Amino acid sequence: MANRRKLVVGNWKMNGRLTSGLNLAKDVADKASAQKPLAFDVVLCPPATLIWPVAEVVAGSPVMLGAQNGHAANHGAYTGEISAGMLADLGCRYVILGHSERRAAQGETSAMVAEKIAAAQLAGLIAILCVGETQEQRASGAAETAVARQVSESLPEKFDASKLVVAYEPVWAIGSGELPTLDDIRRIHKAIRKTLGPVGEMVQVLYGGSVAPSNAGPILAEPEVDGVLVGSASLNSDGFWAIAEKCR
Ligand code: PGA
Repeated sequence: MANRRKLVVGNWKMNGRLTSGLNLAKDVADKASAQKPLAFDVVLCPPATLIWPVAEVVAGSPVMLGAQNGHAANHGAYTGEISAGMLADLGCRYVILGHSERRAAQGETSAMVAEKIAAAQLAGLIAILCVGETQEQRASGAAETAVARQVSESLPEKFDASKLVVAYEPVWAIGSGELPTLDDIRRIHKAIRKTLGPVGEMVQVLYGGSVAPSNAGPILAEPEVDGVLVGSASLNSDGFWAIAEKCR
């Protein structure tokens, strides 16, 4: 089996102001620095307004920076949008793309996500592609096929596997406190790797959805799981770090 490093990503979503965000980032950076060299990777994805100040706070620590979205175009007349090149300019290494909240609320289709991934990789960013089935798809036994379809439709025709992470985030598990069984996670992660083809063994596949310090241990101990994408539990540095430490 490929030797894949574990990765813990904090998705702050639309949370954090200058003071609270900088305190949170500093706490995480301090905890990570105390353990240099880290045996796993840590990425913080603050809201766009905090990317630059957080970049300054985490500089010199092992904590890496990511964004929560990026536009498919490089520049131009797209009011309110931010390009992948701009994110790279600020020191971002990662960008979350195709999160189910954006697919639902912003109407992002898999085809749009594919364009964004291509642009992100061209700018040198690692794209974290989010996929996951709805409650209805799960109930009808279609979770695996729905996720596999989403993976293949959300990837550009030509993609760089070394700049790709896939996060399996069942829509029903996000923010609900409900989690799939370890068997379910293992099965879907395998289906994702199969869909990726020959590069499947080298791509990190994360789990996301209601990850908390109390449940992260068994999930991260699963060899098919290369890390976690953490939403609400990433807003508390102690809780987030307790999750990250389960990677060891
Ligand atoms: P949650 O969110 O950890 O709050 O469930 C995860 C995500 O949406 O990435």
